Amino acid sequence: MTQRAITIRLADPRDAQAIAMMSRDFVEAGLGWKYDAARVLRAIRDRETLAVVACESGKNGSGRGTLTGFAIMEFGDERAHLVLLAVRPSHRRLGIGERLLDWLLESARCAGMASIHLELRAGNENARRFYRAMSFHETVLVPGYYRSGEGRKEGALRMLRVLRAPGPVPYTWRPPRTEDT
Ligand SMILES: CC(C)(COP(=O)(O)OP(=O)(O)OC[C@H]1O[C@@H](n2cnc3c(N)ncnc32)[C@H](O)[C@@H]1OP(=O)(O)O)[C@@H](O)C(=O)NCCC(=O)NCCS
Repeated sequence: MTQRAITIRLADPRDAQAIAMMSRDFVEAGLGWKYDAARVLRAIRDRETLAVVACESGKNGSGRGTLTGFAIMEFGDERAHLVLLAVRPSHRRLGIGERLLDWLLESARCAGMASIHLELRAGNENARRFYRAMSFHETVLVPGYYRSGEGRKEGALRMLRVLRAPGPVPYTWRPPRTEDT
């Protein structure tokens, strides 16, 4: 498969069900299913949240191509929270996770975010390696952060990527002068 066969684009409401299924199967397995289609739909419609998908060209039943990955990030005042990111097992190690993350990173920079934060299951070595390769650093281990419906607990590892020094962004715009035109 070539890189060009995969397009990264904004998610739209019609993607909610497919994203929810990927979250259930590839991120939340064994933890209970919080990001069902209704919750994903709210995220897609929320103005403070960015949802992007990786789409394989070629038609499936809907004529829209097959979703091979997705990512959801929430924006605060200067901290962004990477809530979910997953790529289908059949499409891993092809650079799709990196391309999804690049889109979010660029958006976070444009929005003036100072840092990106995330949690992952403490035992998720693959994701840990991925985020390390993407310049995230581990900050803290939170025991018992995740709870399954059956009361099972699992620790979370928090990771961080700094984009700029925290604090106000210097105001750099100035009106054009006549001699500039
Ligand atoms: C983590 C995940 C999103 C990575 O997606 P991906 O598309 O396979 O990642 P990429 O191909 O863009 O990888 C970029 C780089 O990250 C590193 N990396 C990614 N997966 C890795 C793995 N399993 N082991 C070691 N390094 C890995 C490598 O340096 C890789 O570059 P390379 O392939 O040239 O060596 C994917 O494994 C996944 O969906 N996992 C299940 C869901 C999950 O755990 N999500 C994160 C918590 S929300």
